[in-house]
Amino acid sequence: MSGPAGSGIEVRSVSRSFWSGREEIRALADVSLTAHKGEVVGLLGPNGAGKTTLLRILATLLRPDSGSARVNGYDVIEDAMEVRRSIGYLSTRTGVYGRLTPLEIMDYFGSLHRMSPSMIAERTEMLFGRFDLWKLASLRCEELSGGNQQRVSLARALLHDPPVLILDEPTTGLDVIAAATTIGFIDISRDLGCCVLFSTHVLSEAEKLCDRIAILHEGEIRADGTLEELRERTGQRFLEDIFLHLAAGSVLQPGASGQGPGCA
Ligand SMILES: Nc1ncnc2c1ncn2[C@@H]1O[C@H](COP(=O)(O)OP(=O)(O)OP(=O)(O)O)[C@@H](O)[C@H]1O
Ligand SMILES: [Mg+2]
Repeated sequence: MSGPAGSGIEVRSVSRSFWSGREEIRALADVSLTAHKGEVVGLLGPNGAGKTTLLRILATLLRPDSGSARVNGYDVIEDAMEVRRSIGYLSTRTGVYGRLTPLEIMDYFGSLHRMSPSMIAERTEMLFGRFDLWKLASLRCEELSGGNQQRVSLARALLHDPPVLILDEPTTGLDVIAAATTIGFIDISRDLGCCVLFSTHVLSEAEKLCDRIAILHEGEIRADGTLEELRERTGQRFLEDIFLHLAAGSVLQPGASGQGPGCA
């Protein structure tokens, strides 16, 4: 499904604050970002940088205070329903319905997306095969481990074959095999023309997968470019050092990688 003029993700000068009593927490300050069809953009940033807030705005779960955003050509406020149809969204807190089995979840969400039973069956076959979910297909989700629930959530997010994927830390909690599968799936989705924006704390994932990387810190985009562009801009070779340079403000000496604090 392709939207009107333009596609992918376009964020223009988005700001969003939260209030804790009288104290304003500026989660996003004038953020602009684009991700095109056939492109994977990684969103990196320390805890509290604003990544989830941005992804929730794009998923229409939160309204920006100012600025605008379009997903698959649709405005996140004015065309929220179209945006929801256009995206596969995975949040860090995406729950599965504990009483349902993975198969029932696919049927339920497939019918919400108005998919035909044969289309639900076809996509489920492919996704359960890929994420190795058939052996769990008839168990109640509340019986599954956290990582296996995450696999179900991911399969559910991808069920309707959306043109835009918005994934908040998609590999957190997954074992090495499931994480690699997820990364592989994102890679294939890009080749099929999807636009993918995902957040991660795993820098090696971003390094391996992303066409562009955006670094968010204290609600502001500190840098946005290809790995090569970020290297040139910071004079650092490794993404960990680039990240620390831009997000932590500390310039590491060559070879200091891995000696400093945790990377994200
Ligand atoms: N619902 C909320 N109410 C109040 N403050 C919030 C809310 N959601 C986010 N914040 C604040 O907004 C800021 C950005 O949070 P956000 O969850 O977007 O960060 P993040 O980059 O996703 O962090 P993490 O890497 O820990 O997931 C933080 O200061 C957070 O405390
Ligand atoms: Mg987050």
